[in-house]
Amino acid sequence: MQINKSELEAVAVKSAQYPESGVPEIAFAGRSNVGKSSLLNLLTRRKNLARVSGSPGKTRTINFYRINDEFRIVDLPGYGYARVSKSESEKWGAMMESYLENREGLLKVIQLVDIRHKPSAQDVQMYDYLKYFNLDGIVVATKADKVSSNQRSKNILEIRKTLGMSNADKIIPVSALKKSGHEVLLDEIEKLLEN
Ligand code: GTP
Ligand code: MG
Repeated sequence: MQINKSELEAVAVKSAQYPESGVPEIAFAGRSNVGKSSLLNLLTRRKNLARVSGSPGKTRTINFYRINDEFRIVDLPGYGYARVSKSESEKWGAMMESYLENREGLLKVIQLVDIRHKPSAQDVQMYDYLKYFNLDGIVVATKADKVSSNQRSKNILEIRKTLGMSNADKIIPVSALKKSGHEVLLDEIEKLLEN
């Protein structure tokens, strides 16, 4: 699959602001700064569709992108950003729950983890949560350019183990910098849409 058309369709903090359901959706979840927005730009071949930032906590809303007039990619706000207040992290939790637990048309959530690090307790918690709602199955290991290919395989095994991924689950290394891994991911997305 190739993405030829992409546009920001809605920005939401509550369900009343979501675009009409009935369009299949694939969401991206992961800690703040892991590279969710960069991945979206890579997949869509757009430089600035989603705002990328060196300072974590950039995306604080649920952003719905319409893709090829066919489905949506949903960029979820990142977690694990240390400098948010308690009330803000509670708001984040409520926002995520309301989307993940009730969204009609949501096929899967692709979880992003940084290839350099062992997944955090929050990453594991998120993956367990996705499993519980049957939204798991695809993990993207971001920033693959930052490790050697030898280290890459080792870290992928470690990520699999730490998240408790089953053998059928996929883990796809991707680099937004080197523009690699996106074709594999797009093929997986295509399979999800066909089912
Ligand atoms: P929030 O919106 O804060 O949740 O962050 P995010 O997950 O959307 O991350 P974003 O795409 O904004 O990227 C965060 C930082 O990581 C930026 O400085 C990016 O340039 C950098 N980055 C993202 N992907 C890659 C990658 O594949 N390789 C390298 N080297 N840097 C990357
Ligand atoms: Mg972002």
